[in-house]
Amino acid sequence: MDLARLKAETATEHTATEETMPLMSTSLTVEDYIQVLRRLYYVVRAWDDWSDAHVPADLLPLLQNRRRAPLLQADLDTLGWKTSEGSPAALRYAVQTMDDTAVPGDPRAVFLGRMYVMEGSTLGGQYIARHLEQQFRLPHGVGNSYFVGYGEQTGERWRQVREVLAALPDEDAETVIRSAKNMFELFGEAMRSELSIS
Ligand code: HEM
Repeated sequence: MDLARLKAETATEHTATEETMPLMSTSLTVEDYIQVLRRLYYVVRAWDDWSDAHVPADLLPLLQNRRRAPLLQADLDTLGWKTSEGSPAALRYAVQTMDDTAVPGDPRAVFLGRMYVMEGSTLGGQYIARHLEQQFRLPHGVGNSYFVGYGEQTGERWRQVREVLAALPDEDAETVIRSAKNMFELFGEAMRSELSIS
């Protein structure tokens, strides 16, 4: 499928999601930042769990070592927010929502549409990580490990995802785009929600 089309058709959703996270602002406070991390936790954790449960067998190697909810927990911990594993009920709700809102269509295309969003977020994450280091004088990767993500491997890991997406037949494009929009929406909802790790 055409990846330029995927990017173009989800650009509005990207901007809308980005706008829910005021992370690049020079007036960002640690409290604002903690709030963003807390809100991100359940949606990222729900993706980690949903993707484990729904990964098509041939994509298992691609999915390996991409779980990022533990990084959010580590960052919250570093910033003095002593987290538990979170509320089991809130996590069940987030996982259920991820299940319930999955768009219809070929499961592989649905999976990859969502994965596109999760993995694409590691790109902007690089800029965000650098900004957070300057803003809060954080040592590299301490308190911002979620946004540092794969660090120097980011480009290569993104290339691997793009390769699999690009190999999808054009007839899957609609499903991938709809699934990506759905994932952006889940992120936006999480940022507006009261449901955050405590
Ligand atoms: C403050 C928040 C954000 C900023 C500043 C930001 C910034 C960026 C930037 C600069 C790129 C292009 C990077 C490159 O091509 O090297 C990018 C790509 C991308 N971002 Fe974000 N982003 C943010 C939040 C998010 C979130 C929350 C998600 C997903 C939930 C997301 C998903 C994506 C995707 C999928 C791409 C890849 C687009 C493509 O090339 O097809 N971003 N972002």
